[in-house]
Amino acid sequence: MKTEILYDNTDSDIERAAELLKGGAIVAFPTETVYGLGANALDSAAVKKIFEAKGRPSDNPLIVHLSYPQEAEKYAFTNELFYRLTRFMPGPLTVILKKRENIPDAVTAGLDSVALRVPYYLPARKLIKLAGVPVAAPSANISGKPSPTKAQHVIDDMTGKVEAILCGADCSVGVESTVVKIVGDNRLVICRPGGVTKEMLENICSEVEIDPAVISKFEGAPISPGMKYKHYSPDADVILLIGTEEQIIKYISDKSDFGILCFDEDKHLLTRGNALSLGREKDFSLQAARLFDCLRSFDKDKSIKTIYARMPGDDGVGLAVRNRLLKAAGFDIVRL
Ligand code: TXA
Ligand code: MG
Repeated sequence: MKTEILYDNTDSDIERAAELLKGGAIVAFPTETVYGLGANALDSAAVKKIFEAKGRPSDNPLIVHLSYPQEAEKYAFTNELFYRLTRFMPGPLTVILKKRENIPDAVTAGLDSVALRVPYYLPARKLIKLAGVPVAAPSANISGKPSPTKAQHVIDDMTGKVEAILCGADCSVGVESTVVKIVGDNRLVICRPGGVTKEMLENICSEVEIDPAVISKFEGAPISPGMKYKHYSPDADVILLIGTEEQIIKYISDKSDFGILCFDEDKHLLTRGNALSLGREKDFSLQAARLFDCLRSFDKDKSIKTIYARMPGDDGVGLAVRNRLLKAAGFDIVRL
């Protein structure tokens, strides 16, 4: 398949991408979290093409992207708590609600709920509005690989597999949206942590829980089917290390063919050719923005067989960074 390369700073290119979506094509596009791979959510045949292009298991449901929060009414049953959550919409938040009939099973993997999100990044909203349809979109990576946060990542993964790639800015948040499930009138369960943090959600809801699958190995059924798969994984094995810089230097002294993911404060590690910094140890937003690009950079060097990563903090957006690294590592942690 020939893949058209389009640019989101050109109106006619956004219009072209919208036309393609309307016509049943699959089109990758930027959002503030990660690049998505979109299709008309009301067109099952188009939605199925997304699963093929990514190699995604068909039991993993997709997020439906809207241009306004109020459109949720058309596709799902909302409640008062949903409207409190619209304080974070547009933004990096996905809300799971009971679905209406018009959302096909191909999108929800047969579940009776649907995940809805309104992206903040303006060209994404323009695209959805112009297409005039809800847009089902997972992250635009090959299934299991780190999500794409730069246009080049999508070009690397999806050229020849999709009708078009709309290229835009690097993703400012850099990790996928926070996924929350509304339970009853006043309870939220975080199924996947992201840019809208637990602390932020607690400002509008007194009962906010974190699904155990976020920080521990999957045993049983997580609320979001996607959380059970090995995810975000570069080709190299990822191992998380808990310890001081000195302990890590000692630990790696007899190792070979590895890269190290650390923080700006790790001055001695950073003098080595094989280390990349995620940013300062407490700068969780920068760590989120850089994480997937760092994992993809290590994979470009085919001699790297293992990536040792320092365990990030878990405050605020740090929890999202920790969750993605834990999943990339398959929960493989070494305590020094
Ligand atoms: O930031 C994002 O959310 C990006 C951009 C493109 O918007 N999208 C994204 O989609 O990360 P994806 O498909 O990679 O992740 C969707 C997650 C999966 O873990 C999936 O299992 C969960 O949302 N999900 C979708 N629909 C669900 C539902 N009805 N019930 C529970 N979990 C659901
Ligand atoms: Mg994904």
